[in-house]
Amino acid sequence: MTLEQAKEKLIKYGQEHVLKYYDELSAQEQQALLEQIEATDMSILAACQHKEELAQKGVITPLAAMELDEIEAGRNGYVTTGLEAIRGGKVGAVLLAGGMGTRLGSDAPKGMYNVGLTRELYIFECLINNLLDVVNEADAWIHLFVMTSDKNHDATMTFLKEHAYFGYKAEYVHFFKQEMAAATDYQGRIYLEEKGKLSTSPNGNGGWFISMKNTGMLDIVKKAGIEWLNVFAVDNVLQRIADPCFIGATLQKNCVVGAKVVRKNAPDEKVGVMCLEDGRPSIVEYYELTEDLMNAKDDKGNPAYNFGVILNYLFNESALEELLENSLPLHIVEKKIPYLDANGELVKPEEPNGYKFENLVLDMIHQMDSCLPFEVVREKEFAPIKNKTGVDSVESARALLQENGVVL
Ligand code: UTP
Repeated sequence: MTLEQAKEKLIKYGQEHVLKYYDELSAQEQQALLEQIEATDMSILAACQHKEELAQKGVITPLAAMELDEIEAGRNGYVTTGLEAIRGGKVGAVLLAGGMGTRLGSDAPKGMYNVGLTRELYIFECLINNLLDVVNEADAWIHLFVMTSDKNHDATMTFLKEHAYFGYKAEYVHFFKQEMAAATDYQGRIYLEEKGKLSTSPNGNGGWFISMKNTGMLDIVKKAGIEWLNVFAVDNVLQRIADPCFIGATLQKNCVVGAKVVRKNAPDEKVGVMCLEDGRPSIVEYYELTEDLMNAKDDKGNPAYNFGVILNYLFNESALEELLENSLPLHIVEKKIPYLDANGELVKPEEPNGYKFENLVLDMIHQMDSCLPFEVVREKEFAPIKNKTGVDSVESARALLQENGVVL
């Protein structure tokens, strides 16, 4: 893109300020900036001016979960079906590790965080250990796709390689990068993070499947005959991955997606809950849950919206392919964004100072025809690490790991 073309695009979206330092840059930096301007989707930025309209929900009704007693009654059959699928090479795992983990406050990728106390035990290691349990049970390797972003790709790859993938077979580990989106101030003006670089952040965890396609991962999926993809977050150190019982239940119930859920610990717990929205599976976020929905009861008199998602989903791969062309809703999230101030000095703010633009995996559920919410025991499978201390923290996860017999 030439400077003239860049100016034209920037004027269209009210972003001319990003060329403020253009004349100070070397020819190479100028070129890089023009390329970044060309590649950046600026059409989404104006949405922050009418944020409220983005969050419109349809009619919410309950969606029954498969609860623990039903799972126990059918466990043997589900496990057999799940193990068969794994042994047949039909299941792949996708680790979403492209996030910035800003709440944890470590500069390194979140998976590199050491949760050990008397020994080294990294988040990545916990997850791989959990997956290895299934590999050993099934006596079959499972392809593991690791999503990173520009911000943490090299560090993640180097770390896992240096640690010999914590015992995972290297040829079954595949890395791919998600896309980035511009980050702006509250007026939707793109920040600069360097004089020749727009401020960007990963575009949310909802872009994982498109990024798998764009980076050639789907070719591996096809070649290996994978039909189901178990997508999971980097931060839940207790979760079971490629869990045969969960896979078997989703398959036997003929659903195109399964969602692991936990029973809420309080009506106002801050988790997204499973529901139907206009008759299709969906997730209503805790801040969208009205008083009426919070207090609604099902036929048995139990809370009707009582099962929170834990970002562990099993998607049917062909169902995802059919939906590739459909766009996902945009989420505009307030975050702390490092930026150059009026004097060209880099500022790392202590408080949120602008917006990031994200697509979320939970919105993919609403595009699916059927979903099985599958209950898991919170104390055994849900230990997310979002913060350093307090709720969903390193501290709480350590306590839960110890309760589950993991030596720290
Ligand atoms: P979170 O919503 O916790 O976001 O991600 P985050 O960026 O990791 O952390 P904070 O909010 O800045 O503290 C949930 C999961 O989605 C992944 C994360 O790596 C985590 O596994 N994720 C998030 C991505 O892979 N890409 C993204 O763009 C965002």
